[in-house]
Amino acid sequence: MKPFLTTTVPLLLLLCLLHYSSASTQPTFPSEALPTKSGYITVNPKTNSAIFYIFYEAQNPTSPLAQTPLLIWLQGGPGCSSMTGNFFELGPYWVVSSDGESISLEPNSGSWNRIFGLVFIDNPIGTGFSIASSPEEIPRNQLSVSRHLFAAITGFIGSDPLFKDRPIYITGESYAGKYVPSIGYYILKQNLKLPVEKQVKLKGVAIGNGLTDPVTQVKTHALNAYFSGLVNERQKGELEKAQRKVVDLVKMGNWSGATDARFTVMDLLQNMTGLATLYDYTKKMPYQSSLVTKFLSSAEVKRAIGANESIVFEECSDTVGYALNDDVMKSVKYMVEFLVRNIKVLLYQGHFDLRDGVVATEAWVKTMKWEEIERFLMAERRIWKVRGVLAGYVQKWANLSHAVVLGAGHFVPTDQPLNSQAMIEDWVLDQGVFASELEGNFSSDSRESL
Ligand SMILES: *[C@@H]1O[C@H](CO)[C@@H](O)[C@H](O)[C@H]1NC(C)=O
Ligand SMILES: *[C@@H]1O[C@H](CO)[C@@H](O)[C@H](O)[C@H]1NC(C)=O
Ligand SMILES: *[C@@H]1O[C@H](CO)[C@@H](O)[C@H](O)[C@H]1NC(C)=O
Ligand SMILES: *[C@@H]1O[C@H](CO)[C@@H](O)[C@H](O)[C@H]1NC(C)=O
Ligand SMILES: *[C@@H]1O[C@H](CO)[C@@H](O)[C@H](O)[C@H]1NC(C)=O
Repeated sequence: MKPFLTTTVPLLLLLCLLHYSSASTQPTFPSEALPTKSGYITVNPKTNSAIFYIFYEAQNPTSPLAQTPLLIWLQGGPGCSSMTGNFFELGPYWVVSSDGESISLEPNSGSWNRIFGLVFIDNPIGTGFSIASSPEEIPRNQLSVSRHLFAAITGFIGSDPLFKDRPIYITGESYAGKYVPSIGYYILKQNLKLPVEKQVKLKGVAIGNGLTDPVTQVKTHALNAYFSGLVNERQKGELEKAQRKVVDLVKMGNWSGATDARFTVMDLLQNMTGLATLYDYTKKMPYQSSLVTKFLSSAEVKRAIGANESIVFEECSDTVGYALNDDVMKSVKYMVEFLVRNIKVLLYQGHFDLRDGVVATEAWVKTMKWEEIERFLMAERRIWKVRGVLAGYVQKWANLSHAVVLGAGHFVPTDQPLNSQAMIEDWVLDQGVFASELEGNFSSDSRESL
């Protein structure tokens, strides 16, 4: 017994020391996880305000790179960094932690850059690693957001001849339900004034669990929660009263008051249900996206991705959120109506989200002023399968697609990595359940059943 103890104690001590030192040093950044390209694009040469981006080239492109689609991802908030999208949702490497302490990167088999190029943009300036030279320069409305984004996107495309003619798809989540239509609209309007070779080759926009027509959406929470069995009839009444307050404030033109009143609706719903998160009513604990903040606090990691080392990374910036307080309740539905007449639009929602979910989206879609809307509403809601297994439902007519992703909350790619990858690929390529002309009741994706 004795000799055994004497040899194991120092060994244990050594192991503890090793563990301690690996936990206290910075996480290492494996070279295979490095971005293809990353850095800053100046959006205002007079002030040096700049947008931070990370680009990953397609891993296994099925077309020559010069024709391979480029997806651009915008996080919501307002004021949340697309690095959450990158390292927690749809990027090629995920931040993981087995013990809640040490963190590392692990390949994400559901990454959206399997066959497309993928660009994450920290938007607006002041968000994530993007730089706002002064708080006054942070956008206060969608038009100024779009001006900066347009400078960033054209700057990126112009940075390499390989990007010049690639089809562009703008994607994003949550509050990007405002950004995505706005920049799409802005691009199509700018294109009208530009020679063909300078135009942005925008082919489609995709919004996940978006806030797009906030007044219509905020009116759905009470009924949605009631029919989900999460509140009783009296609580439904209380929620409806809080929702009416939001609508009344909007009618008075008190936009920031309305934004705050919307937060009160969420707060009430949270208090009534006691859920771990309104982003997914099935979860027992909130999404662990704070791991990304921990990861990005390391100087070595910042260096590896080309971010300004003096910036203290925040998952969401309150300063940016506050700057856009007046913007939150304003609708961009009319921009979606314009887009759908010109390019493809995909609206997808994780089924378990109580904030920006399926019911909230369908409520505004059915009020769209679009000559095809009746036919869209009458279109079959197809059963969507991936590798032979039920993945959700897809309704498609003309340029508009709506996808319900089962088994997912607000962060669809985190919860359903492979299905979200199948969804975005098939939508971009018009195949599987997104094929324009479906034969009979065919509804599977393009992948073989297992
Ligand atoms: C807007 O509404 C809030 C909340 O009701 C109120 O406190 C505030 O005074 C209003 N602002 C204006 C300018 O009326
Ligand atoms: C929700 O509960 C918290 C904590 O009890 C309380 O401070 C807050 O006022 C409540 N919110 C609403 C809208 O009732
Ligand atoms: C990094 O950011 C700080 C503060 O935002 C700024 O003063 C500095 O010029 C930036 N450094 C570089 C190399 O851009
Ligand atoms: C759909 O978009 C295409 C461009 O891809 C456009 O030519 C067409 O008019 C749009 N279709 C409808 C029905 O709006
Ligand atoms: C359509 O559905 C029927 C029954 O559900 C099935 O037998 C048939 O194979 C399907 N057709 C196609 C083309 O998938």
